[in-house]
Amino acid sequence: MNAKLIGVVGAGVMGSGVAQNLAQSGYRVVLIDISEAQLENARVQIRNNVRFSAFSRKDKSTADKPEDVLARIQFTTSYEALREAHYVIENVVEKWDAKASVYPRLDEVCPPETIYAVDTSCYSITRVGAITTRPDRVIGIHFMNPVPMKPTVEVIRGWHTSDQTIATTFELLAGMGKTGVLVNDSPGFVSNRILMLTVNEAAFTVQDQVASPASVDEIFRKCFGHKMGPLETADLIGLDTILYSIEVLHESFGDSKYRPCPLLKKMVDAGLLGRKSGQGFFKY
Ligand SMILES: NC(=O)c1ccc[n+]([C@@H]2O[C@H](COP(=O)([O-])OP(=O)(O)OC[C@H]3O[C@@H](n4cnc5c(N)ncnc54)[C@H](O)[C@@H]3O)[C@@H](O)[C@H]2O)c1
Repeated sequence: MNAKLIGVVGAGVMGSGVAQNLAQSGYRVVLIDISEAQLENARVQIRNNVRFSAFSRKDKSTADKPEDVLARIQFTTSYEALREAHYVIENVVEKWDAKASVYPRLDEVCPPETIYAVDTSCYSITRVGAITTRPDRVIGIHFMNPVPMKPTVEVIRGWHTSDQTIATTFELLAGMGKTGVLVNDSPGFVSNRILMLTVNEAAFTVQDQVASPASVDEIFRKCFGHKMGPLETADLIGLDTILYSIEVLHESFGDSKYRPCPLLKKMVDAGLLGRKSGQGFFKY
């Protein structure tokens, strides 16, 4: 068991997965969101996920009990709970103003040695580091979704990120049963610089009536042998997160190849956000 206290800020798709993974690995967790409803959602989600993973385990005697996992997580809207946090993982919505509002609050309450990991799809880690009092202790961890089931993450070194911060991060990841691939800072890193362009272009093929969403994905699954097509992946990630990410890439690189597909914008305006809203390119 690991007694370290880890702060997780943002209790949406990613934050709830990170909190579950940490608690199942024995860490004590403070899970923070601005929305009580979202915290309650996360509690229900984590309980269901742990129950389901226990159900699908062969040796039931070693399976986690939902109540034991939940007992390690404090669900709160108060940053005060982070006063003794060893490490904080921020997973708020992919909007600069929302992310930027978190770090001054963290600096107010966290000990000076606390490391901040930014779970972001596209934002520059160096830019986040610049709005904190400790850019050497700011690092990117791009978790994959669903977090508890994905063993590998992308780790991003910002301009000032120290070797010690990187080493501590890899230790924490190992404690969560994960490994990481270290890359240098650049908007979208490796994964999303490529993936977001693919997803955006896949949306253009639907908009231009080249193929239905099912046919687009079938080509990737059956012809290329991918496990999932780009549009099913987009629905899993959340079409709002995809749109915000492609907007960040567009703004950061100033390159028109990242212009967001109008169909994607329209779907987000219509509330079709993918799995989390029950409908995106496909129905759930
Ligand atoms: N969804 C994915 O597959 C995926 C994968 C990797 C990385 N990411 C990144 O992870 C981050 C979170 O994405 P998500 O899909 O979980 O989004 P989400 O919309 O599901 O959840 C975001 C949460 O942030 C909360 N929030 C907003 N402002 C806040 C604040 N100031 N303090 C505390 N909480 C606040 C919201 O209430 C919401 O619960 C984003 O930066 C996203 O780009 C997402």
